[in-house]
This record gives sequence, C-alpha cells and structure tokens, in this order.
Amino acid sequence: LVGNSTNIKWHECSLNKTDRQKLLKQKGCVIWITGLSGSGKSTVACALGGSLYRRGKLSYVLDGDNVRHGLNRDLSFKAEDRAENIRRIGEVAKLFSDAGVICIASLISPYRKDRDACRAMLPAGDFIEVFMDVPLQVCEARDPKGLYKLARAGKIKGFTGIDDPYEPPLNCEIVLTHKGGACPSPCEMAEEVVSYLEDQGFLQ
Ligand code: PPS
Repeated sequence: LVGNSTNIKWHECSLNKTDRQKLLKQKGCVIWITGLSGSGKSTVACALGGSLYRRGKLSYVLDGDNVRHGLNRDLSFKAEDRAENIRRIGEVAKLFSDAGVICIASLISPYRKDRDACRAMLPAGDFIEVFMDVPLQVCEARDPKGLYKLARAGKIKGFTGIDDPYEPPLNCEIVLTHKGGACPSPCEMAEEVVSYLEDQGFLQ
C-alpha cells in the first residue's frame, strides 16, 4: 500500500539520473531555502538561479508563493495545509533533482519535521538546507508586502513569526546571516551557496 493507492508497482526506465547528469554536466540536488516572510528567500533563490545559469548550470526555482498560485492553490496556512504544501514541493523538488536539475525551493517551511521529511525523501547529501537567519524585527521592518502590519492589526491570523511558530533548523548545511550593519547582498549570499555546490562536486 502506498498512500491511498493499491495495486501499483514502480516502473524503472533504462535511462537514469546518472545518464541525465552526464548530459547536463552537473549533479541534481535540492537547495531548500527556509526562513521568515521577508527574510529574502525568493531574492536569494533568483540570484542563485541567475548565477548558476551564467555558469551554464540548469536550475529551477520552486517558490512557495508561486506554487500556491497553481499546484497548491487549494491549501491554506493552517498547520496541516502548510505540511501538505511542503510535502508536495518536496516531491516535485525530488523529481527535478532526479532529472539532474539543481532545484531551488524557497518557502517558509516553518516546521522542522516537515523539512526533515523532505530531506528524508532524497539520497544523503542531495538535500541542502539553507537558513535565512534574519531576525523577526528586520523582516517586520522591511514588510515588503505589508503583511506583518496586517498580522499585527489582527487582520491576518496565523502569520508566521507573529501568531504562528517558526522553528529554525538545528543542523542545516548553510546559514545565511544578517549581521546588523554588515548585511551581505543577495548576490553575495547566492555566491556562498554556489561555493558550497562547487566544493561538494555538484557543478563538476
Ligand atoms: S509555508 O509556510 O511554507 O507553507 O508558506 P509559503 O508557501 O512559503 O508561503 C508564504 C507566503 O505566503 C504569504 N502569506 C503568509 N505567510 C505566512 N503566514 C501566513 N499566515 C501567510 N499568509 C500569506 C506571504 O507572502 C509569504 O511569502 P514570503 O515570500 O515568505 O514573504
């Protein structure tokens, strides 16, 4: 039994991930960017995608906000729907990585167990968790979409960091830190991730 489906069997193709990676001259993986709303996840994700593109490497960004416009349009922000949002994005990211693509998932993904479940879907080393370590006060001061203001006014319920929890990673691969006045630019943060990918042999 797999989920609610019965009588199904995995079908293996002769062409596999290794073949596709050879073609693309890169290794497929998932870069999972987590952090509060307004922490810069989407900006760093796009900067990273651009940097990889200029190096001739194929990536694809799965942004929480964007995926909620289509595949996940049926999901709310209550805990079980966030868990389902994260699970679906994890599964899609796994498919991209199996295609040999460097998949960049950027979503709040506030609960540790949901992120860990996505990590467990992939071979060891292929899930690279990146924490946007930006204090709530900084995110709230930026408030790019005016959502913190609405949450403080009680007009949005269950907003992450205000009246819904965010559980920071305990053991992630990369922490991108906001260091007061010396905040690195999104491009500098993206380059930190690129260096990690280079060191780990994903860019070949
Ligand atoms: S989650 O928690 O991973 O399922 O969220 P995600 O799919 O990344 O979507 C986050 C964006 O949705 C907007 N938004 C909210 N965020 C947090 N809490 C509540 N209640 C909420 N309602 C709407 C918000 O714009 C988030 O975008 P980002 O890019 O993170 O600022």
